[in-house]
Amino acid sequence: MREFIQGLPKVELHLHIEGTLEPELMFELARRNQVKIPFNSPEDVRSAYQFSNLQSFLDIYYQGANVLVREQDFFDLTWHYLLQCHQENVRHCEIFFDPQTHTERGIAFSCVVNGITQALEKARQELNISSHLIMCFLRHLDEQSALETLEQAIPYQDQIIGVGLDSSEQGNPPEKFARVFAKAEQLGFKKVAHAGEEGPAQNIRTAIEMLHVDRVDHGVRCIEDSALVEQLRQSQMPLTVCPLSNIKLKVFSDMREHNIVKLLEMGLCVTINSDDPAYFGGYMNNNFNAVADAFSLTYQQLAKFSLNAIDASFISEKEKQALRQEVIDYLHSFAH
Ligand code: ADE
Ligand code: ZN
Repeated sequence: MREFIQGLPKVELHLHIEGTLEPELMFELARRNQVKIPFNSPEDVRSAYQFSNLQSFLDIYYQGANVLVREQDFFDLTWHYLLQCHQENVRHCEIFFDPQTHTERGIAFSCVVNGITQALEKARQELNISSHLIMCFLRHLDEQSALETLEQAIPYQDQIIGVGLDSSEQGNPPEKFARVFAKAEQLGFKKVAHAGEEGPAQNIRTAIEMLHVDRVDHGVRCIEDSALVEQLRQSQMPLTVCPLSNIKLKVFSDMREHNIVKLLEMGLCVTINSDDPAYFGGYMNNNFNAVADAFSLTYQQLAKFSLNAIDASFISEKEKQALRQEVIDYLHSFAH
C-alpha cells in the first residue's frame, strides 16, 4: 500500500506555506535574520509541538513565522515544500499564504508574494509541478484589515487565484467576512474558507450561502447536520480534509474515529491534504498512509481521493483531463 501511495499522482489543495517551516529551516532563518526564538535546538522545537486544540497550535505557528523576513526566506520555504512534493509525486498544489501574519510585522506584501511565486515558477519548469496561490484572511483580525489586504492583492491578481479564510474559527464565523468575500468575488477571485474544523456545521452552511465558496476547507463537522451532508453530496462541494492535522488538533481522538472514509463512501467530494505538515507529522504520503492504515483502503479508494482533488482544483478542464489520465493509467499499471 505504501508503494502504491508513493507512486500515486497526487494533488494538494489545503496547505499553508507557513506550516511547512521545518524546525531546521526555522533555526537557519533565525540565525540568518538575527531573530530570537525561544528554543535551543530543532529537537527542542519538535518537542514543543504538543497541541490541545487549534488555538494552542496557532500560537506556536504564528511565532514560528517571525523568522521569515526576506524574499529569499519565502523562496527557500516554498522551494523546500516543492522538493518534498516532487519526492512524493504531488503533481499539482494550491497553496495558502497568510499575508497579514507578515504585513503586521512590517514585511512588504510584495516580498512575500515574489518569494513564493519565484519558487512556484522554478518548480513548474524544473520539477513539472503546477500550482496556484491562494491568499487567506486571518479571521481573528477585523474586516477592515481583510479589506486592506484584498486591496494589496489587486496588483498581484495574475499570481493569486483566490482568497481563503483561516485562523481561529471559534468566535469568528464566516459572516464576519461576507462583505470582503463579496468584493473578492467582484474582482474575480476564487473563494474558499476553513469551516467546520472546530466550529459548528452551521459555519459550513454560512460559508456556502454567504461567502459563495468554491470549496470548504476541512468541513468534517458537516456530519452533525444530515441535511447538509446530503446537500454537499448533491452539489459535490469539495471538502479539503486534513487527517493528521485533525488528530494533532484533537478534532478526532484517533484516526479510526475520523469520518473521511465514511464521507467518501457516502459519495461526497472529499480530498486528503496535509494542512501544516511541519507541525502535524507529515506531508501528503504520510496523510494517505495514515488513512490507509486505519481503514484498509483499496487502490480504487485511494485513487478516488486523487480524482476528487483534480475535480476540485482550480486548473483548466484540459489540465484536469491530463491529470485524471495519469491517475487512471497508474491505477491500471498497478492492477496488472
Ligand atoms: N492556519 C494554519 N492552519 C490552520 C488550520 N488548520 N485551521 C485554521 N487556521 C490555520
Ligand atoms: Zn488549514
